[in-house]
Amino acid sequence: MDKLIIEGGHNLKGEIKINGSKNSALPILVATLLCEDEFVIENVPLLRDIFTIKKVLEVLGVSVTIEGNTVKVDTRGAVGYEAPYELVKQMRASYYVLGPLLTRLGRALVSLPGGCAIGTRPINLHIQGLKKLGADISITHGYIDAYGNKLKGTEIFLEGPNGSSVGATINVMTAATLASGCTTIEGAAMEPEVEDVANFLIKCGAKIKGHGTRRIEIKGVKKLHGCEYKVIPDRIEAGTFALGAAISRGEVFLKGASASHLEAFINKLKNASADIFLEKDGFTVKMDKDIRSTDIETAPFPGFPTDMQAQFTALLCLSTGVSVVRETIFEDRFMHVSELTRMGADIRKEKDYVIIKGVPCLYGTRVMASDLRASAALVLAGLSASGTTEISRIYHIDRGYENIEKRLSGLGAHIWRQEE
Ligand code: EPU
Repeated sequence: MDKLIIEGGHNLKGEIKINGSKNSALPILVATLLCEDEFVIENVPLLRDIFTIKKVLEVLGVSVTIEGNTVKVDTRGAVGYEAPYELVKQMRASYYVLGPLLTRLGRALVSLPGGCAIGTRPINLHIQGLKKLGADISITHGYIDAYGNKLKGTEIFLEGPNGSSVGATINVMTAATLASGCTTIEGAAMEPEVEDVANFLIKCGAKIKGHGTRRIEIKGVKKLHGCEYKVIPDRIEAGTFALGAAISRGEVFLKGASASHLEAFINKLKNASADIFLEKDGFTVKMDKDIRSTDIETAPFPGFPTDMQAQFTALLCLSTGVSVVRETIFEDRFMHVSELTRMGADIRKEKDYVIIKGVPCLYGTRVMASDLRASAALVLAGLSASGTTEISRIYHIDRGYENIEKRLSGLGAHIWRQEE
């Protein structure tokens, strides 16, 4: 197993190109299952999760070729209906095959994803939505066993106790593209990734309106076709590198980053004293002042993204005051807190929030990555820490950040990968 070593104290400076969005690319690649044709998907990040979804598609009989950041998919062969536990356990997003398989084959057998380091993560809304479209779904022996030869459009309310669900909105919207009649999703997730998947489906011939709002309308069509499509930039990757610039007191231009996807985050970063310069093709983050304490509460889009909570917490550890960070989406998303404390941070966890008393500096030590964004928080902390930080279990970070050590080194960080 590999570990990352970071020698802290070097400011990040320069320009970095933001890769395509992981959380868009995954459902887009899976949605190719809806029809029998060829697709060219561009700007796909080369991440562990993308290679896992490639395996899932291949197990189902689909041909997938990766050339640089372009993925060619050919769904013309026979398609199976089972997504086995061995693959789904590696990545929850494998459940995206549920909607497309049901629609194409009238049958899907998909392993239940099981537990996750950031919370229980139920999938009741996915199942509820597909059932409303007419699917017959039961849970047996750890599998979602779904039948549904003739899905039929209807009105579906998809909000859960913590707000709308990105995954359920995408799964139901995808399945509804080929259902007979009209489907209305109320309480739909408005995340840019949902919009991106809708735009991809529209390019395939689907009739969708209202994506990016709380109400999505889908008029079922008889058939979809292949297309060429370019995935949007990854807002969470952009946000993470923005915090890299801020925590290391540097200045970085995030080329290709979409500021409109990150408004709530950018406002908080400005509040923490960073200067942000919007440019035609991205934005620059500069930090040359003391980090100001800032309160944060995560919320569905357009609110502050839960996927940036751990990394922002790392920045606030070094502020000049006291900050409160509340997590409202995933109940256990505080695994980074005890590791940051080991680096000298002063953080107290209460129920669904943490109180962070800023300290003048963090200290390098050995820490352990526990999930994707928690690992990114530890890398950020390591960039600013005095001395050397060693992060083990970094396979988590490879799920969501392509070649992070190479890209941060390009900005002047002293970071390298080593076999444990
Ligand atoms: N929820 C339910 N029932 C469901 C589905 C969700 O109650 O059937 C709840 C969840 O427990 C959570 C809330 O609804 O409290 C929102 O969950 P959502 O379904 O939106 O999350 P997701 O689709 O499973 C995606 C991203 C996550 C990101 C969340 C929230 C992908 C592959 N994953 O997950 O990304 O945190 O949306 O924005 O798109 C990451 O990239 O690190 C990551 C975890």
